[in-house]
Amino acid sequence: MKIICRCEDITEEDIIKAIREKGCTTLDELKHLLRLGMGPCQGRTCIPLAARILARETGKKVSEIELQTSRPPVVPVPLGLLAGEEDEND
Ligand code: FES
Repeated sequence: MKIICRCEDITEEDIIKAIREKGCTTLDELKHLLRLGMGPCQGRTCIPLAARILARETGKKVSEIELQTSRPPVVPVPLGLLAGEEDEND
């Protein structure tokens, strides 16, 4: 049993099963199904490994596998607001 994502305890078998039995064809689908790449390291180590498995299983090149999309906040949020401080304008 080869652990691919240490943060979320996901094995190579879990990923292969998701691809073969659940029809996952992208890293985003693996992320949603397995929580791949959602641990504290945010996929730093597991995403490249999962991309190689996905490429092998789907017959694509690793360069054809799209990396996960990141979504920054639409509007910049002051850190103090996140910490619970009151807005100076109120
Ligand atoms: S190893 Fe996968 S999120 Fe950290």
